[in-house]
Amino acid sequence: MSNAPTEETVLDVEHFTDRLFAFSITRPASFRFRTGEFIMIGLPKTEEQKRPVMRAYSIASPAWDDKLEFYSIKVEDGPLTSRLQKIVSGDTVLLGRKPVGTLVLDALLPGKRLWMFSTGTGFAPFASLVRDPETYERYDEVIVTHTCRDAGELEYSQRLVADLINDPLVGEMVVNADGSPKLKLITSLTREDHPLTGRITTLLDTGKLFDVAGTEPLNKGMDRVMICGSKDMIGDTAKMVESFGLEEGSNSEPKHFVVEKSFVG
Ligand code: A2P
Repeated sequence: MSNAPTEETVLDVEHFTDRLFAFSITRPASFRFRTGEFIMIGLPKTEEQKRPVMRAYSIASPAWDDKLEFYSIKVEDGPLTSRLQKIVSGDTVLLGRKPVGTLVLDALLPGKRLWMFSTGTGFAPFASLVRDPETYERYDEVIVTHTCRDAGELEYSQRLVADLINDPLVGEMVVNADGSPKLKLITSLTREDHPLTGRITTLLDTGKLFDVAGTEPLNKGMDRVMICGSKDMIGDTAKMVESFGLEEGSNSEPKHFVVEKSFVG
């Protein structure tokens, strides 16, 4: 079988801010992935290019969906996103064949509460995980945090989570029997006023995050954590999570937390 990417058709594009957009493409019937994984995405090469530019993208749609959705940054001179930001429905996008990644439920030991810490487009893998019934089967409580620069950058996550209550598959799983939420989205901003402000690292350090979530501080007996954002965010947040005694796991050795960079520039 060829390892060459498949050619898929753009179905839908939505721009949120001048830095962020989401798009969906057709999904080959044979394309399988585990919720939370990423895949290489690219555009057909231009006349000047020897080969197409491909970049890793977390799959934002759930594993049961018949289309694939992605959430992307736009970088004016980015090798891929300078062109990708201009796609419209009907265009061709290249899709890699081998999804991989560590932000998968199997890379964590069983626990009671799942935290997903994200910044910017790092929310993408969690957009997939919050739409997967297995997330709610494995945990009693699911808390996603999304920290961005300004309010416009929260639109994708806020709308997606608000709409989940009407989701035919997980709508009933995101609330407890007593009506309280089983899934919580906690948003914070760093460059604009908002009910909660500050980086995730600061919110963990001061304990403000646990006040807002109504939980105890992280402990490895019950809490499991996934982290996705820029390289610096991941490094700093992982250090903070380790200071609570949690250890980093992987596919081959599940532990208390896992990390992944939101890759594209
Ligand atoms: P800040 O505004 O203080 O830089 P970006 O869009 O640049 O990836 O940033 C997304 C969010 O991640 C911003 O709110 C940003 O805060 C925050 N951030 C950037 N670097 C770090 C870091 N090292 N640790 C935690 N949060 C970070």
